[in-house]
Formats: sequence, C-alpha cells, structure tokens
Amino acid sequence: MTETIVAARGLVKSYGASPALRGVTLDVTAGEIVAVTGPSGCGKSTLLHCLSGILRPDAGEVHYRDQRVDLMSETVRARLRRSELGVLFQFGQLVAELTAAENVSLPLLLAGAPRRAARTAALTWLDRLGVADLADQRPGEMSGGQQQRVALGRALVTEPRVLFADEPTGALDTLAGEQVMGHLVRLARAQNTTVVLVTHEPRIAGYADREIVMRDGEITIAAMAAAR
Ligand SMILES: Nc1ncnc2c1ncn2[C@@H]1O[C@H](COP(=O)(O)OP(=O)(O)O)[C@@H](O)[C@H]1O
Ligand SMILES: [Mg+2]
Repeated sequence: MTETIVAARGLVKSYGASPALRGVTLDVTAGEIVAVTGPSGCGKSTLLHCLSGILRPDAGEVHYRDQRVDLMSETVRARLRRSELGVLFQFGQLVAELTAAENVSLPLLLAGAPRRAARTAALTWLDRLGVADLADQRPGEMSGGQQQRVALGRALVTEPRVLFADEPTGALDTLAGEQVMGHLVRLARAQNTTVVLVTHEPRIAGYADREIVMRDGEITIAAMAAAR
C-alpha cells in the first residue's frame, strides 16, 4: 500500500535563461491524491509536465514505478501517456468536431479498441460523470463544467494508474468546479487511481490527501496532514 508510483529527483528545468524548476524532489504513493499548490509562475505546470512525460527536464530524474520517464524517447513517453497515465488540463481541450461520446472513445480507438467497444466504454464513463444525456452533443453545445466532465471521462476511460490534472477547475465557476472535483475524487478512489493535482485554489487543494507547496521553482512545504 505504500508503493511509490511517481517520483522526482532533483528536477531542473529552464526556459531559456529563466529557471522554472530548481531542484524538485518528491515521492507520490500509489493511490494517494496529492495537490501541488503555489502562486502563479512558481513552476507547478512545468513540474506536472515533467512528471507526466510531456516535457523532458534539463537535469534530474523522473520515475514512474520502475521506469525512468526522463530517459524515454518521445514515442515511448507518448505510449505511456496513452496507456498508464491520464492528463486533464484547465480547458478540457476536447475535439470541437467530435461528440462527447466520440471524444471519450478517442483514447481507446488510438489504443486499437474496436469502435463498438470504445463507444460502450465511453457511454459508461459519461454516465458515471452524470453527462450521459450529452453523449451525442459537441463541446460547443455544452457548458464549461459539462465539457470538463467529458474531458475527465476522456482522461479516465483508459483506466490510468496516475491522473495528472493541471488546474482542472481553473476555468469554472465554484459550483461547476466542485462538481468536477467531486467526480474526480470519487472515481479516482473507486479505481485506486493516483492523482497529482495542480491548483492555486486552497479550496480545491482541500480535496487532496496531501499538499505540496511550491515557490520559485522549489518545494517549500511537503507532507501536510490529510485534508479530507
Ligand atoms: N513555454 C514557456 N516559455 C518560457 N517561459 C515559460 C514557459 N512556460 C513557463 N514559463 C515560465 O516558467 C515559470 C514557471 O511556469 P509554470 O510552470 O507555468 O508555473 P505555474 O504553473 O505555477 O503558473 C514562469 O516564470 C513562467 O513564466
Ligand atoms: Mg500552471
């Protein structure tokens, strides 16, 4: 139960001359929900992108289970993200031309699932997220909160072991944000999905088991008591 699933060791990342991460070390235990907080510009998104294999750090190590993510080729990192890792961004980034069901099916189709099975799974996830009635609607016909629930379905449909979420409620009003977080936490717990959640909102961080506070590219406080 205390297996470390994601770890960073001395992560350094700069954009040109300006450092975004100055040596970040952390461990995430399988099944926990961790919030990474701190003011805008402190490096939260950069950290999340390094942990999820979207960005390669300049120095340091990223571990996912027994694998070194920072040493993988882009192709292998992309495959890992498609299979075992899920990502959710501030703006759901749904494909505008596709319906909700098609958007949620997409990761399964990319992984080679038959169309029918992918649609069935997508409908199951939309139902779990309370948006089954939107299955055949396109993003432009949905509210921001509905879009983000569909995006959460797309992130979870592959049943990833780790979900990386970057300000997932940042573009939503309070009620819609609470709904998205309620679903996210409930579904993550049900599947024992580990969650690394970036947010600058204390209220959203309150959903996590543990809070990691960043400032100027470094972790200042880690391992706060459970907030639940
Ligand atoms: N693509 C980029 N190009 C140049 N600078 C960037 C880029 N992304 C982030 N930065 C800079 O890196 C620092 C950390 O950014 P970021 O990780 O996005 O912080 P946060 O998510 O906490 O707001 C900031 O100073 C930001 O301006
Ligand atoms: Mg950010």
